[in-house]
Amino acid sequence: MKFSIILLAAGTGKRSGLNYNKIFYKIHGKSLLDYSLDYFINCEDCVEIILVVNKSDESLVKKMYSSMVGKIVLGGLTRQESVQQALKHVKEEYVLVHDSARPFINGRCVDDLLGALVDYDAATLGMQLKDSICKTDGNRLEKTLNRSDYMLIQTPQAFKKSLLIEVHRLAKKDGFTGTDDTSLVKQYSDQPIKIVKGDVRMHKFTTLSDLDYLKVIL
Ligand code: CTP
Ligand code: MG
Repeated sequence: MKFSIILLAAGTGKRSGLNYNKIFYKIHGKSLLDYSLDYFINCEDCVEIILVVNKSDESLVKKMYSSMVGKIVLGGLTRQESVQQALKHVKEEYVLVHDSARPFINGRCVDDLLGALVDYDAATLGMQLKDSICKTDGNRLEKTLNRSDYMLIQTPQAFKKSLLIEVHRLAKKDGFTGTDDTSLVKQYSDQPIKIVKGDVRMHKFTTLSDLDYLKVIL
């Protein structure tokens, strides 16, 4: 199934503590963004790459990547606004959204997401929890929850474009901000969201402590 990819790189990586956007951090001589880009450039079904960047990285990214990707667009202040900006440029009927801060991409996961789009208009990667999970007030434990009721969510996530555009429109109108795109589908549509099995290696670089693991698996 042919698809467009929205590759998100427009954050600043504040929690990483680096003094530059974390997606330019290099592991084994290659930036995190390059790992994701290489995967989608070489993926036969991926017919359009929309790379979303922030204003301060724009000129550098244009110099480095213009010849490799379909479009380089300016993101917004939040991840959600960055997706919204990119959606204006998507050509294909199906679109994947991926955090470039997740440099490892398992091709089986992408294939399973695309497979899910045959029967569903939205699909995400999910991972079962291994640790216990609880509700807290930030300081004290309030309630231990039933672990099997919860999952960790990863990207890429896959959508029928028309659905994703519509839920983003409604979220914007409402002032609702979600941490990912399936949360908007859940909030603003009745469409079921298929969960396909993720991969622990599709881990996101958030804080410096994530780097030790990423260096081992990449
Ligand atoms: N992202 C984006 N536009 C934003 C914010 C985030 O495109 N306004 C992207 C990031 O570049 C990253 C992905 O969304 O690839 C996941 O976000 P996150 O891990 O939160 O990255 P940052 O927002 O850059 O980091 P932080 O929250 O620590 O500042
Ligand atoms: Mg962020």
